[in-house]
Amino acid sequence: MDQRTVSSVIAGRPVADAPGGRILSTNPARLDEVVADVALGDAALLVTAAQAARDAQRAWADVPAPVRGRAIANIGRLVEDNKQALADLVTREIGKPYPEALGEVQEIIDTCDFFLGEGRRLYGQTVPSEMPDKQLFTFRNPVGTVAVITAGNFPVAVPSWYIVPALLCGNTVVWKPAEYSAAAASALHELFCRGGGLPPGVFNVVYADGPTTYAGLERALDAGLIDKVGFTGSSEVGARIGELTGRHLQSACLELGGKNPMVVTANADIDLAVEGALFGGFGTAGQRCTSLGTVICHESVHDEFLTRFAEATAAAAVGDPFAEVLYGPMLDMRFAMRFEQFLGWIGPHHKVMGSSGIGRITAANPRAGFVGDPEAGIFCHPTIVEGVRPGDEIFDRETFGPLVGVTTYRTLDQAVELANAPGYGLSSSIYTSDATEAFRFRRGVSAGMVSVNNSTSGAEAHLPFGGNGKSGNGSRQSGQWVLDQFTRWQALNWDYSGRLQKAQMDVAELTPDRDFRL
Ligand code: UN1
Repeated sequence: MDQRTVSSVIAGRPVADAPGGRILSTNPARLDEVVADVALGDAALLVTAAQAARDAQRAWADVPAPVRGRAIANIGRLVEDNKQALADLVTREIGKPYPEALGEVQEIIDTCDFFLGEGRRLYGQTVPSEMPDKQLFTFRNPVGTVAVITAGNFPVAVPSWYIVPALLCGNTVVWKPAEYSAAAASALHELFCRGGGLPPGVFNVVYADGPTTYAGLERALDAGLIDKVGFTGSSEVGARIGELTGRHLQSACLELGGKNPMVVTANADIDLAVEGALFGGFGTAGQRCTSLGTVICHESVHDEFLTRFAEATAAAAVGDPFAEVLYGPMLDMRFAMRFEQFLGWIGPHHKVMGSSGIGRITAANPRAGFVGDPEAGIFCHPTIVEGVRPGDEIFDRETFGPLVGVTTYRTLDQAVELANAPGYGLSSSIYTSDATEAFRFRRGVSAGMVSVNNSTSGAEAHLPFGGNGKSGNGSRQSGQWVLDQFTRWQALNWDYSGRLQKAQMDVAELTPDRDFRL
């Protein structure tokens, strides 16, 4: 298997040294396979990258938007032509099942498809003035330089949600991907630069650990080199980034964690709900920000749902992500270790189901039907925890990994209250055949995204994606909505009357006859 050497690229030049040290990015399904040898940068390197982006920004903004749209079109084509190779790298580096990795690459292509035309739109408006011989207009201006910091669970799709519209709108970018998905990141960076024919400095990539990135970002913001931050990751780090950017009067685009609820009503199609819970809860080993957190089941169907869900989970194939499995390994060792901590939240009043054990799958803690050799990588048992309730950490907090809680409700109002109780608000779902229930749930739930008779994950790339509460600050990615993240509205008024016309004062008045009655 080919091993890559990955280093930061600033202003088109790879950075040879590794002031932040070197790490190995390994295949989590086969830990003895090194996917990349990664040279890490330090805070100063991030500042250098921000300066390079700043230096390149004006010229990039001067490239006509339709030409930038062509660059996005060509990036999409090159990604399409390399779809299998990029998906293969994603599966090898973070263990996402290959069909899902292909879907992830497709999400980049879809994003390019949407934004290539935006280069010929990027509409502003002509607006009538209240005075004669005067015209009003609006323009979308690029924000400037954008720092994008992303997680490794969607190592190429989610970054493209930021990078594609940011570039299209005339911004330049510094991207800091997750270190444990550096090979996929470097492949994406190369595809973008080559496919788009991007001038040096327009799209820079820096590999660094979290604390270093924060320090570098702080310095780059202090130096006035960054105008916008996009961040996908934990709610804790998101809050710190929000605080930091707030000090500079900026509002970051934050896409954070979730505790995504699924309500199963009394009249739900139970087979469909089980299928949705299985994919939403355990697909990607539960490591999506949209993964199912808690099933909130009507008490009349609770036993039937739980029995079937537990059976389906016990029967699901787990293992080698290149084989036909529901899910593969944890993304990286740090997630397996953190998952152990979440499992510690299981209390005596909970009932555990779904597998022959909990925690790491090993020879001593096996799972029936495991596909491949569990000891070669970092695989975890799927775990259903029945009887969770508010006040339990397992109910209140995100448990990134293959763990789904189940609880019951009696009235729809209770279901909505339980859905909102943890204080997140990313995705949500309801299984029902009653339109009234579906719309009442939609109205009451705090989530930015709602599925009806569909799982909590699997958002399409052209609807607004984002959350509220602990899931984000209300920013939305994707589709036309993300344009407001990467552009600023500029209002223009042009008076061609040849005299000073004062708004609100020099305005003609038509006199109404208010006394008139029929
Ligand atoms: C994420 O986990 O950060 O809706 C994004 C979904 C995917 C994106 C998830 N399209 O599940």
